Amino acid sequence: MSSLYIALKHFHLTTVALTIMLFLFRSALMLWYPRGLNWRWVRVVPHVIDTLLLLSGTGLMFLIHQYPLVNHWLTAKLTALLLYIVFGTLALKRGRTRRTRLTALLFALLSLGYLVAVARIHSPTIGLF
Ligand code: HEM
Repeated sequence: MSSLYIALKHFHLTTVALTIMLFLFRSALMLWYPRGLNWRWVRVVPHVIDTLLLLSGTGLMFLIHQYPLVNHWLTAKLTALLLYIVFGTLALKRGRTRRTRLTALLFALLSLGYLVAVARIHSPTIGLF
């Protein structure tokens, strides 16, 4: 295993941890202190982290020569990422009622859980079948 791979993987995992903590923090704000969602750092920092997350994931993809539509775990991972973004945006921004936002939050967390499981097990069925 090359040291670049190890360094990039550590970096990717750091951005994964940060993005999850920031998402949980923003979800708590949405539920109990919505005006906090407009704080400048709360609007800016997640974009920076998510950009680094995407870049490091893409870098890893090229380093291990595995690609979406070729390797099904990566297709599943990116599909889950898309769902997480859609439900996450509904939960934190676009949902009109508290009920919609709560339901979207639940689905965002389910998508995220599946995403992490797929990343670890490298299988779309996450070892269930
Ligand atoms: C919220 C988004 C993401 C999460 C939660 C996430 C999570 C993870 C985790 C937990 C691992 C380590 C798996 C392990 O070896 O135990 C990992 C590795 C990896 N991720 Fe991500 N990731 C995300 C986004 C992405 C994106 C957007 C890409 C590609 C464009 C990507 C590509 C990869 C690759 C190629 C690996 C290395 C797998 C290996 O070497 O075995 N990830 N990811």
